[in-house]
Amino acid sequence: MNIVSKTLESSNNSLEQHWMPFTANRDFKASPRLVTRSEGMYMWNQNGEKLIDGSSGLFNVAAGHGRAEIAEAVYAQMLHNDYSSSFSIGHPTSYALAAKLANILPEPFNHVFFTNSGSESIDTALKMAMAYHRARGEGQRIRFVSRERAYHGVNIGGTSLSGMVKNRETFAGVMPNVVVMRHTWNPDELFVRGQPANGAELAEDLQRMCDTYGATTIAACFVEPVAGSTGVLVPPKGYLERLREICDQYGILLVFDEVITGFGRLGAPFAADAFGVIPDIITMAKALTNGAIPMGAVGVRDEIYETITNAAPENAVEFFHGYTYSAHPAACAAGLATLQIYEDEGLFEKAAETSGYFLDRVFGLKEIGVVRDIRGYGMLAAIEVQAQDGKPGARGSELQKKLFWNGCHVKFTGDSAIVAPPLVATRDHVDEIIDCLAKTLKEV
Ligand SMILES: Cc1ncc(COP(=O)(O)O)c(C=O)c1O
Repeated sequence: MNIVSKTLESSNNSLEQHWMPFTANRDFKASPRLVTRSEGMYMWNQNGEKLIDGSSGLFNVAAGHGRAEIAEAVYAQMLHNDYSSSFSIGHPTSYALAAKLANILPEPFNHVFFTNSGSESIDTALKMAMAYHRARGEGQRIRFVSRERAYHGVNIGGTSLSGMVKNRETFAGVMPNVVVMRHTWNPDELFVRGQPANGAELAEDLQRMCDTYGATTIAACFVEPVAGSTGVLVPPKGYLERLREICDQYGILLVFDEVITGFGRLGAPFAADAFGVIPDIITMAKALTNGAIPMGAVGVRDEIYETITNAAPENAVEFFHGYTYSAHPAACAAGLATLQIYEDEGLFEKAAETSGYFLDRVFGLKEIGVVRDIRGYGMLAAIEVQAQDGKPGARGSELQKKLFWNGCHVKFTGDSAIVAPPLVATRDHVDEIIDCLAKTLKEV
């Protein structure tokens, strides 16, 4: 019996000791939903029942579960060199991964900093923006612009940028000097597939921030190109382009948080490619290692790396930042194997191909009574249901549980189901996910 089976069968195996993240712990522990195995498009629950994965885990398992190539690469790396630091010494796997990433990032992104999560990538990007302006003699740029309904992870930096009330109301003591633009969802325009035609003028909020606070005090503007965790808000046509223009006009860095949208989710390597707008910094995580090993990364335009690096005295550390596990050998091996799978199987192109069918099926749920709105782009869609009176999120939580027992994993945030199948999904898999969603949506 292996260690996993032993742990599961142990009579001492209580759920109580694990304080679970983003979970209603009391409710969950009274009626747990456990995944004991996963493979390909599927997971199995504690009763041995099969579930299809409609959210790629947490939007990270893009190549499907249990990829032997990744497991073998990690195993080989662990036997060969399990750990060596990246502080002033190096190991070959990190350079190989950085080079491969630079290859798929848009030009001129040829420098990558490794972290262990999306949240760490956001904090790293905040510090890079501060370091860049300081190196240019513009250390007075202390302000950051974010957006309502934004999700940029949960570290103090990301919480400060957050536009989701529950993620910040308990935590008042966050970073100062963050101002927020309006979100781009328009309740008068529901069931818009792809980019809404109207709403580009919302980018003028950034201009208003410049007019109110002084453009020379603003370091960077952070946006998720498609706001994911808040319920898939696709940018209106012309919106990202206008943000780019304003940033260029005033020397503000534009940061795309591509933790969800990176690695093919929108049918292109990055959202920057999908929308044809190139930011200054791109934050990544999730699908970088197919969810197998924690890892994040921040890609920057050459000018940012060069400015920060060249401003420091010779032989001195240029950027006083990094994590013990930045570029962990096992994570780098997992990343390399994952990117190889994406390339060999053409998964970014496959996502673009499957997207039309996927969105047809998702938007086909429109007539179900409880459905309030549907939004989607690429292989990412949200089905928003009518909130229960006075209890936002309650129906979403009920639906997520029902879906689990009906044979489908779909992550809800609030009252929106975030549907994001692994990019290896076939049309039959899409049908299975949508049929399960349709059945379950009709039960509430
Ligand atoms: C856009 C975005 N940024 C940052 C994060 C945080 O990533 P992590 O949970 O790996 O810290 C997430 C997670 O969902 C995300 O969607």
